Amino acid sequence: MATKLEAATPPARGEQSELQQLARRHLWMHFTRMGAYEDHEMPIIVRGDGCYVYDEHGKRYLDGLSALFCVNAGHGRAELGQAAADQAKELGFFTNWSYAHPQAIKLAARIAALAPGDLNRVFFTNSGSEAVESALKLCRNYHRMRGEGQRYKLIAREIAYHGTTMGALSATGIPGLRTPFEPLTPGGCHVPNTNSYRAPDDRDPLWAADAIEERILFEGPETVSCVILEPVQNAGGCFTPPDGYFQRVREICDRHGVLLISDEVICSWGRLGEYFGAQRYDYMPDLITTAKGITSAYAPMGAVIASDKVADQFMEGTAMFTHGFTFAGHPMAAAVAMANLDIFEREDLCGHVRAKEEEFRGMLDGLRELPIVGDVRGAGFFQAIELVKDQDTKESFSDEESETLLRGYLSGALYEHGLICRADDRGDPVVQLSPPLIADSAEFEEIDRVLRTVLTEAWDRVVRYRDPR
Ligand SMILES: Cc1ncc(COP(=O)(O)O)c(C=O)c1O
Repeated sequence: MATKLEAATPPARGEQSELQQLARRHLWMHFTRMGAYEDHEMPIIVRGDGCYVYDEHGKRYLDGLSALFCVNAGHGRAELGQAAADQAKELGFFTNWSYAHPQAIKLAARIAALAPGDLNRVFFTNSGSEAVESALKLCRNYHRMRGEGQRYKLIAREIAYHGTTMGALSATGIPGLRTPFEPLTPGGCHVPNTNSYRAPDDRDPLWAADAIEERILFEGPETVSCVILEPVQNAGGCFTPPDGYFQRVREICDRHGVLLISDEVICSWGRLGEYFGAQRYDYMPDLITTAKGITSAYAPMGAVIASDKVADQFMEGTAMFTHGFTFAGHPMAAAVAMANLDIFEREDLCGHVRAKEEEFRGMLDGLRELPIVGDVRGAGFFQAIELVKDQDTKESFSDEESETLLRGYLSGALYEHGLICRADDRGDPVVQLSPPLIADSAEFEEIDRVLRTVLTEAWDRVVRYRDPR
């Protein structure tokens, strides 16, 4: 991840808050260059309300990222905490490992009712990585039970992020996240994603789907376990599927006996205007992996939602999925998820996203008049702006330019101007927006104002960098 907020935070000098001192000494932030905070304040967020959060100095920020694509119902929902407190009084914890409890049962049934088709069986986890890890193991186990134990390979897309545990990492297609930990779990194969920004006009729109079949044939179909894809690919900047992409992938998977996992850790729970991304693009996966917005992130939770076809293998006789996590399906997390879904229904959050998507997107499309904006893409409340050196040629920035101009300036400047969003250069440099699903015209206008100011200054820097006189 390429956030570099230290550029926006004041240099550390004199009296530091106790929290700053403790954080510097003891907290290990994830995907963070810790050294950068040796002489700068860490951004410490202390409070949230609706679409806004506040730092320890009381400064307000528009959370244009829903924390990390997850606080879907917005901040400050006391009723979600209340649901956890009520559950704690009743039953603070019991495991799903050989036992059931009412909240996990009710939540599983509610999720199954919302999920498409025969996705009826819910296996809870504590996170997205655990959901992906579990789904990959489930696919291998499914094939083995059917006498096809040699099917162990997975096919994922280049630059896609599917998590950090060793199995999930073998699906993640970002070299910088993989190489420090090699050798990875064997079997990870990667194919092109659906980035069409620089595609030739005459390219078959379904070429990226066909590339999956080519790879299956190359590997030997009898060795391939699953294909794992996000409905809209996050890393690289919100790559949407061309029309017919998922239908073609479904056909390919069926033809070769390969399972299809829809990784919806971001793309479910209203992010694309539907409960599940597969519903937005009208396809039937064999498994959905989810997390984040399931509780609007008020409690850690994830899940694998399995089709009857897959789950039924494990439901009879002595069969068992020998896999699990002590805390998965935690009653307090499940109670929070139930209360979160009550909010979704009461406030029709999916309907709100559908109603407001065009306005949100229209605002972002308006930024195309800035010379640094090359492309705007995404779906629902999940959009990205790709930054370029030249709109006509679509020339991207070199690594050095990305580092100095974009990472060194952009993330920090956006934060300084009170907007939390993501400047990311895991593919070509993009700014990503993923506001809480309650965001409305006032928040869109604020996002527009900050992006215009900061992207205009970023372009001035590009020009100065090119011609320093
Ligand atoms: C598509 C996808 N899969 C998996 C993960 C991993 O989820 P977690 O960070 O909860 O482990 C993420 C995280 O952003 C994700 O976006």
